[in-house]
Amino acid sequence: GGKSGKAARGLRFPVVAPNTVDDVTVPEGYAHNVVIRWGDPILRGAPAFRPDQQSAKAQAGQFGYNNDYMAVLEVPGERHRQLLVINHEYTDEQLMFAGYDPEKPTREQAEIGWAAHGLSILVAQEERRTGRLTAVTRHHLNRRITGTTPFEVTGPAAGSELLKTSADPEGTRILGTLNNCGGGITPWGTVLSGEENFHQYFANGDSVTDPVAAARLKRYGVAGAASERKWERFDKRFDVAREPNEVNRFGWVVEIDPFDPESTPRKLTALGRFKHEAAEPRLTDDGRPVLYMGDDEKFDYFYKFVSAKRMKRGSTPHVREHNRTLLDEGTLYVAKFTGDSAGEIDGSGKLPEDGEFDGSGKWIPLASGRRSYVPGMTAEEVYVFTRMAADKVGATKMDRPEDVEPSPRTGRVYAALTNNSDRGKDGKAAADEANPRNANKHGQILELSEHCGDPSSERFHWNLFLVCGDPEDPATYFGGFPKDQVSPISCPDNITFDAYGNLWISTDGNALGSHDGLFGVATAGERRGQVLQFLTVPKGAETCGPIVQDRRVMIAVQHPGEVDGASVEKPASQWPDGAGALVRPSVVSVWRENGRDIGV
Ligand code: FEO
Ligand code: CA
Ligand code: CA
Ligand code: CA
Repeated sequence: GGKSGKAARGLRFPVVAPNTVDDVTVPEGYAHNVVIRWGDPILRGAPAFRPDQQSAKAQAGQFGYNNDYMAVLEVPGERHRQLLVINHEYTDEQLMFAGYDPEKPTREQAEIGWAAHGLSILVAQEERRTGRLTAVTRHHLNRRITGTTPFEVTGPAAGSELLKTSADPEGTRILGTLNNCGGGITPWGTVLSGEENFHQYFANGDSVTDPVAAARLKRYGVAGAASERKWERFDKRFDVAREPNEVNRFGWVVEIDPFDPESTPRKLTALGRFKHEAAEPRLTDDGRPVLYMGDDEKFDYFYKFVSAKRMKRGSTPHVREHNRTLLDEGTLYVAKFTGDSAGEIDGSGKLPEDGEFDGSGKWIPLASGRRSYVPGMTAEEVYVFTRMAADKVGATKMDRPEDVEPSPRTGRVYAALTNNSDRGKDGKAAADEANPRNANKHGQILELSEHCGDPSSERFHWNLFLVCGDPEDPATYFGGFPKDQVSPISCPDNITFDAYGNLWISTDGNALGSHDGLFGVATAGERRGQVLQFLTVPKGAETCGPIVQDRRVMIAVQHPGEVDGASVEKPASQWPDGAGALVRPSVVSVWRENGRDIGV
């Protein structure tokens, strides 16, 4: 493994080897604890988790299912406490309910599912001597947002005909958020969360005969007949035959003020509607927010939003009111990547003669306020059917754009492209320089530099920082670092930076035989490209929401035990509570046993 001093500062830990241990495996000399599990009570009056006595009412006050992105904020006036805002992406009924029959879900199971989606906001207490972190139940900031919590619609498509339903004839008030995947923290103290695979909750697309409407449903992947969870049996809004516009009310970035538990969260239409993976903000020199956003689907796109307004500093009611509108006015762009070695890209992943997969790029404007830049589409149509707008302007089809993160040190933007097994297949886009491998199993990390370092620029340069996989595979690239000194890495998903400017990468779907994990890599200096594995997660799990602080690493262990054919009766994992207990998605805190900083 990597020895002290042979790695960049912040990454000097004993490397964890690839493995298939059904547990969280951390470096030697490090320890971890489970901070909170699915079903643990977080609101006043919520009962303790009882697998055999679940109810929608209980779940609405308990930690939700399948924790994904986490935002961590300071709690004003309370030292050694942290405010966690955590996405609950989706439910897995087979692993939640004993005797679950997918053909005959009950109303109670559906309603528990609604309550287990959304987000949890909760305060956690640091135990200073050990690094252990524990949930503070019933803190006044604790909150659950679920699949039925009211949201306000803001931005240029608010009130659009395309968003009106029988329950909401104004098109301005939506019940719930679903499939919240990645997110971001804004410089003005709110949290953003992306609604990703919302299509899976809607049914009966085949009943729609109007060709325009049918094409829209198809482009977003809505099922022709029954949905997987069959929620349409319990609420007609999930049936597009009966409520055709409800599906248009999901697939947005939502904004939440975690410091005001009474505030109404909002869906931001100016940021477009697609399978939002994440939304990571930064500011231009003159104070305008810029957001980078991925649409996580094979051959979908990478987007940017540039606000027309400047952020104000401070926390007076006037300032907060102003900052609430920052993401409602601006320009939505989609990325086009052009390689400088285009003729040499054959889909094998072999490096071109100039030694890099790299080139230039353009941000193509789609809409700004009420103005559309897309021929044949109104601005409202661009916002609600953004994928179709991007199709029309010739944006670059990417290998599943997942999380995005601007480096706080260099301003370069990093985007994880998870994989794309269909790249180069018949009738599908072939490899290009930004997506250089056909049948791409392991994914890549793209590095983007805006022209002159200006986040609002319409031009950029880009290069692939990592082409992931087994370092012994010639079709991999680790930022130019010697490949005999790196950890194998596959399917990068969520990314974050530590205080030293190292990029930390969590994976989803490791195709090299190991469980998924968390990795750190220097992005500058002599050690640029040296990927080192920090931990692995239990069987069937994905590593999510990494947070890297000076003395603590936090991860969300999502969908442990989720393997084909697994159920409550036939569990594939015994994590976190051992044999006989339900497998439960949980948040984990990792620290160094000697009390020193991580990786120094
Ligand atoms: Fe929810 Fe794209 O991961
Ligand atoms: Ca090149
Ligand atoms: Ca993800
Ligand atoms: Ca993923």
